[in-house]
Amino acid sequence: MTAITVTVSSYGYASGMSDLRDYVVGLNTQVPVYGGRRPYINLDNAASTPPFKNVLEAVNDFAPWYSSVHRGNGLKSRLSTELYEEARQVVAQFVGASPKEHVVIFGKNTTEAINKLSYRLPLKKTDIVLISHLEHHSNDLPWRAQATVKRIALTPEGGIDQADFTALLNQYAGRVKLVAISGTSNVTGHIPDIHWFACKAHEASAQIFVDSAQLAAHRPIRIGRLDDPAHLDYIAISGHKMYAPFGTGALIGRCDTFTRREPEYRGGGTISLVTPTIVDWAAPPDGDEAGSPNVVGAVALARAIKTLERIGLSTVARHEAALTRYALTKLKEVPGLVVYGETKPSYTSNRSGVIPFTVGDVPSHLVAAILGFEWGIGVRSGCFCAQPYVMSLLGHDRQAQHRIRYNLLHKRRDLLPGMVRISFGLNNTRKEIDVLMQALAAISEGKYGEYTVDRVTGFYSPTGVTEDFSGYFKI
Ligand SMILES: Cc1ncc(COP(=O)(O)O)c(C=O)c1O
Repeated sequence: MTAITVTVSSYGYASGMSDLRDYVVGLNTQVPVYGGRRPYINLDNAASTPPFKNVLEAVNDFAPWYSSVHRGNGLKSRLSTELYEEARQVVAQFVGASPKEHVVIFGKNTTEAINKLSYRLPLKKTDIVLISHLEHHSNDLPWRAQATVKRIALTPEGGIDQADFTALLNQYAGRVKLVAISGTSNVTGHIPDIHWFACKAHEASAQIFVDSAQLAAHRPIRIGRLDDPAHLDYIAISGHKMYAPFGTGALIGRCDTFTRREPEYRGGGTISLVTPTIVDWAAPPDGDEAGSPNVVGAVALARAIKTLERIGLSTVARHEAALTRYALTKLKEVPGLVVYGETKPSYTSNRSGVIPFTVGDVPSHLVAAILGFEWGIGVRSGCFCAQPYVMSLLGHDRQAQHRIRYNLLHKRRDLLPGMVRISFGLNNTRKEIDVLMQALAAISEGKYGEYTVDRVTGFYSPTGVTEDFSGYFKI
């Protein structure tokens, strides 16, 4: 049984930063580009990271032992149940959750976690949820469905304006039930002082949710005890952004919320008793994990967390801050390139390694296509599921937004505004940034191939080239 335990003893760790690349799968993959092949450079870690090698090993080692959890009596079921619950503890410890006060609910991802919380909180349409203007759509739309959303304004650097937050708390005193903000922006990398926001929210008798999708793999998170005014009431994380892309994330929060009211999904696993006329709901977390859970995903997430802990999130943060400083310095040298959000290379304490930019008037999807097809560099382009924020950063007013809507209604996604985003993981290097800079310099000088845009999707591809994926992988 020791061979498949999710504890750390069975696999090795590198001792220094130079070994960090050894942790990650697929880093030296050669990909075809114009005129040959290049090693793939993944600068899209904010969307999804590759898996850690030892996470993949955990999945493979566990597979022969996998069986259904909680209700089976066979050895494999007992073992799977043990590991699933151990994984829950690993997640709890990762954020400093207390077994007496908190519950860890496994689910697919951050989006699912936020939707769940939005159903589980006793919100009414007249209640106010304060979100910021920089939120990902996943930390905006679920709240709009349950309550009245008010948006905290941005600072000139694209951060969350603390003065506006205080003013909104005063303006809506007694009505603000929840403050829901990102622990790190997926657009500019801005890291708000979440514990300051927590203190203010609690002073106003509101609770706080921190969307930690972009935080968990980059900075330590402390949820805090409930009697600490700086505690966080709820957080959500996604395994696929933490080197464990196997379909599991988690909502971690105060237990009392999940003992009240009925769960939003009902069915197997959620009850303690069902008769034709009675339903007694199971205690948390079971009542909130309807159906058969993703045990493999939970084991993978736990292994990734153990690995991040062993490497040390402060080590990760230092490495990514150094890369961010370097990239911000170099980006300044590219003619016509504009970086959005905080641009000072020295300012890395309150930001992660996520950098958005535009290159002159070259459309963002075209820049991304050139980077991908000619340089083997993977980045994101567009609005990154944060349209209000990106449009504000680009200076698009209401009138411009109506024009954008008109274009979308007429199937012209190619006319959507957007940016290019690079985002670092622990495996990125300065050398990779140097290749990116070479590519961006070429783009700014107009040195790139011919591309055709698909007006409906907005995406660009090299003119006359048809991609063939049949040689890569078969299901
Ligand atoms: C800040 C933020 N919140 C929420 C999400 C949604 O995460 P998921 O797609 O894992 O549900 C993302 C994804 O990019 C994100 O960056």
